Amino acid sequence: MKIIAAMTKDRVIGNNNRLPWDIPEELDWFHTLTTGETVIMGRKTYESIGHPLSDRVNIVLSNALHDQQGIHIASSLDHALDIANKYKNTTYVIGGVRPFTEALPRADELLISWVRHDYPGDTRFPPITGFRQVFYKAFEEFIFCRYCPQPGMNVHTRQ
Ligand SMILES: NC(=O)c1ccc[n+]([C@@H]2O[C@H](COP(=O)([O-])OP(=O)(O)OC[C@H]3O[C@@H](n4cnc5c(N)ncnc54)[C@H](OP(=O)(O)O)[C@@H]3O)[C@@H](O)[C@H]2O)c1
Repeated sequence: MKIIAAMTKDRVIGNNNRLPWDIPEELDWFHTLTTGETVIMGRKTYESIGHPLSDRVNIVLSNALHDQQGIHIASSLDHALDIANKYKNTTYVIGGVRPFTEALPRADELLISWVRHDYPGDTRFPPITGFRQVFYKAFEEFIFCRYCPQPGMNVHTRQ
């Protein structure tokens, strides 16, 4: 399972249930990486997007919603991963805070777009420890970095 997120250097990811920025190139990059795969997201992230993400298996974490056209509903991250395992896709946790926090100790890769400018926000990615950068690619408004768990770090030592 991988985590994909965009954030400022202060780990801001959202504001008023929206992305704080408008960076089409970053959305295109997210689209490129996740198309054909499985995405797991919290209910508020799903509502913020407003529709299932096309050409992807959509799993929404919620204890309030029920299965509907285009999405699976899961009541926990483990439940979401059980659903995801039925597909031969890469699974991406795409937000928000609790899905990121629960997935972080178990993720085998972090894909982070570091937004170059600062934006105010009310939602932050959890602190990142136990990962090392293995790749980066610079874009005009963000720097994309890929991280893998540090050698010797496992699910237990990373928490
Ligand atoms: N920059 C980025 O990469 C990025 C990515 C995603 C989102 N965002 C931003 O983040 C904000 C939304 O994130 P958020 O943290 O406020 O909300 P969220 O995690 O998207 O949604 C929270 C809701 O999801 C459900 N949920 C979350 N974790 C769950 C779990 N483990 N088990 C069962 N249900 C779970 C619950 O729904 P119920 O109440 O229905 O039970 C909870 O109330 C928005 O501003 C959005 O734009 C940014």
